[in-house]
Amino acid sequence: MAQRTFHILTFGCQMNVNDSAWLSRSLQQRGFTETTLDKAGVIILNTCSVRDKPEQKVYAALGRIKYETRHTPGAFAVVAGCVAQQIGSGFFDRFAQVRLVVGGDGLAMAPDAIERLCHERNLRLNLTDFSEVYPERDPALPASGGSIPPVAYVNIMQGCDNFCAYCIVPFTRGRQKSRDASAILDECRALIANGAKEITLLGQNVNAYGLDGHATNAPSFAELLRQVAALPGLARLRFVTPHPKDLSPEVIAMFGELPNLCPRLHLPLQAGSDRVLARMGRKYDMARFLHLVDALRAARPDIALSTDLIVGFPGETEEQFQETLDAVRRVNFMSSFSFCYSDRPGTAASRILDKVPHAEKLHRLERLQAVQEELSAQWLSQKVGCQTELLLEGTSRRQDTGNGESWQGRDPWGDTVNVVLPSGTGAVGQLLPVRITGARKHSLIGEVLQS
Ligand code: SAH
Ligand code: SF4
Ligand code: F3S
Repeated sequence: MAQRTFHILTFGCQMNVNDSAWLSRSLQQRGFTETTLDKAGVIILNTCSVRDKPEQKVYAALGRIKYETRHTPGAFAVVAGCVAQQIGSGFFDRFAQVRLVVGGDGLAMAPDAIERLCHERNLRLNLTDFSEVYPERDPALPASGGSIPPVAYVNIMQGCDNFCAYCIVPFTRGRQKSRDASAILDECRALIANGAKEITLLGQNVNAYGLDGHATNAPSFAELLRQVAALPGLARLRFVTPHPKDLSPEVIAMFGELPNLCPRLHLPLQAGSDRVLARMGRKYDMARFLHLVDALRAARPDIALSTDLIVGFPGETEEQFQETLDAVRRVNFMSSFSFCYSDRPGTAASRILDKVPHAEKLHRLERLQAVQEELSAQWLSQKVGCQTELLLEGTSRRQDTGNGESWQGRDPWGDTVNVVLPSGTGAVGQLLPVRITGARKHSLIGEVLQS
């Protein structure tokens, strides 16, 4: 029998991070212990396929695992997430150490499967079928009295129906399936009872919640926000990722109406050229995006926007790239994730022949990131002197200067703030009034105000 110890390596988006956290809790409740990679009996890779690089990291990690586990009798690997869904049983042919392949919809069954594999040494299991409805899983929360981090994430859907031309997600996560609102609200209540102060609702296209017709009880996304925001004890609510084409006036109005909905929205633009946006299949143009930005700022004047951008989409010209630079300045994003376009198998864009050379993509990325750094630095520096509220998440690595303990938390805009507290007075999950006293490159420094 393999040892009942495990280690999880997580790649990719917040949905994967959240899935790994659930799997870890679920295995621990079954008596498994989390340990380091070299000592683990079960090594789980929760994988991402959104670009070629994270996919290649999975194969490199499996090579390393083969080496690391050679002294652990019975040790085996589990491949979960989007590369698992993409390659399926192909993993069994290429990597003898892999005994379970499990996609997003199969994850709910992974703890049972891992138990079986610990007992039946010649077995291999493939759980990559898509389910018809949202795959509910047991909450695996600590029994009452236990605690979870103050910042929690709750899935409200699985999959995506958009088929943006560059994107593999609709293939790896399947069609969009909304989760029943009652299950979402129950999970939120349970998390709050276990210490969550902030909840982020998660999905690949959250503001299309309910539109797929898979859930029996799915109000509009705006109404779901209202119901979650009203849960007693919830200090902060966020959601990620919304799609601009589905951002309704009702959802925008929520930013003005719900005091605990944070004044921060991650709204992926992808490109600033209408021609490129059309070829990406994004279904909005710059005029529509700018209209959304104005409406959001009218509803909540202090709202800050961040985004995702792709450079070097097939056929993108230098002039079209310049339109992305203009758009970034015009919207004044506080931060952005930007990527070189990467060919993904099966996508429409991978079949376009007019590819932008790699060196040119890198050159565009550098220029884009330089503009963003300037805007992000401005964003942070204009906060110096402001008063805000900090949610403490933990002590920071920069320890003690002799005057107290260094703590780290986030403000309502999601920026990291460092504060020094008198020793023994800070607690994870505390909300504190602070004044921002300084800005570093990617974070802020604050001092606690007397409440
Ligand atoms: N559902 C979200 C994001 C999904 S993937 C949305 O619609 O925005 C996260 C980001 O990865 C995307 O926003 C996009 O910027 C980037 N991305 C997706 N496919 C890519 C590809 N083939 N090459 C480069 N970047 C990609
Ligand atoms: Fe991919 Fe587009 Fe769906 Fe986002 S909305 S997951 S970019 S297909
Ligand atoms: Fe990656 Fe899958 Fe998320 S491809 S970005 S882990 S949905």
